Amino acid sequence: MGMPGVLRLYFGESNLPTPDYLKRALDRAVRDGYTFYTENAGLPSLRGAIADYYLRKQGVALDPGSEIVVTASGVQAIALSIRAVLDPGDEAIVLTPAWPNASAIVELSNARSIEIAQPLHGEVYTIDFDAVERAITPRTRLLVYTSPSNPLGWVATRRQQETLLELSRRHGLWLMADEVYDRLYYEGAELGDPVPSILQMATREDAVLVVHSFSKSYCMTGWRLGWMIARQDLARKCGQMNEFMVSCAAGFVQKAAETALTEGEAELKTMLTTLRENRDFCAAKLRAMPGLTVPDAAGAFYLFPRVEGLRDSFGFCKRLLENTRVGIAPGMAFGAGGEGSVRICYASGREVLEPAMERLGNWLSIEPHDGPLMEQTRIVSDDHNAGVEAAVFQDQADIARGGR
Ligand SMILES: Cc1ncc(COP(=O)(O)O)c(C=O)c1O
Repeated sequence: MGMPGVLRLYFGESNLPTPDYLKRALDRAVRDGYTFYTENAGLPSLRGAIADYYLRKQGVALDPGSEIVVTASGVQAIALSIRAVLDPGDEAIVLTPAWPNASAIVELSNARSIEIAQPLHGEVYTIDFDAVERAITPRTRLLVYTSPSNPLGWVATRRQQETLLELSRRHGLWLMADEVYDRLYYEGAELGDPVPSILQMATREDAVLVVHSFSKSYCMTGWRLGWMIARQDLARKCGQMNEFMVSCAAGFVQKAAETALTEGEAELKTMLTTLRENRDFCAAKLRAMPGLTVPDAAGAFYLFPRVEGLRDSFGFCKRLLENTRVGIAPGMAFGAGGEGSVRICYASGREVLEPAMERLGNWLSIEPHDGPLMEQTRIVSDDHNAGVEAAVFQDQADIARGGR
């Protein structure tokens, strides 16, 4: 983080500042007096705006009074959901590679996270439903997936979502869908169409939870605002539990965010046009580099190329950083199935992406990533066992934080 001159592609956020229309809305909200506590489940007017938004964008009717809880970020929606459905000793199945927070929050709740890697077939990530079924035990309570995926860029098909739902129903599991990137989708009928939510396929009686955020679609990462949608009994409980976590998200932030839902489409489409161009540019450059497989990435703002022969993505990224000043995130930070790949965030300017792709290409042609250097790094880790493991774990935690 402190190294000068780094081309930073390891972040998990756009380089764009919050748009002006939202800054003005925030200023208005403060001056209009939204400086007090709000309801634990969020301002009724914001919940109403979220319900209207789902009807408009997803064709899903929600009751704002009983099925929506506003949270102080997407990660807080994840924490609230997990704490609500898991008891100590329970198990959660998490599809990975994934942003590590859901697994970490499961463990923090004294439950066990069972990571099931999504296999890569050719250039397409899929779901190993047999492996998911095999991992289910009498203690399994929750199944978590992320679509569009951080770090894969993968988007679940309708069929895959229906199968996850059917499997969860059959085994009596809660199904948690992390849909924070649903608006960053490049393969819809029209740019700006969201990825269809699991809520389109589920009934309101299903044990389904959706977590969402204002961070990614509206460049509001620092505002800390999200929401969750759940069956009424769970949503009520989560609203109550919010009292003991943050009581409520900041009132003026909530009020201003209503404007994002009602007036944000034009800015969003402009951003999507740039992101799609960036994705296409980076994917084309990466596909031309030797030894890389670049999986299809229909959503979010990440590419997750697999590097042939790579067994130490952490060492690879560290050497890339030190030698070329290009910062990317090692696949090992994203759990089972992540090792051997690297994550590139393309939500940046061309002045960063172009030299970064050039330097990465040059580095790949000289770095013996499947040769002795990699082997050496791995052996060093083994030799120093606990101490090095702890350091690597610390690094991994830092990466997870820095790599949001
Ligand atoms: C998959 C995924 N879910 C949730 C979040 C949480 O976003 P926030 O806490 O900023 O709302 C992130 C952030 O990177 C993410 O990548």
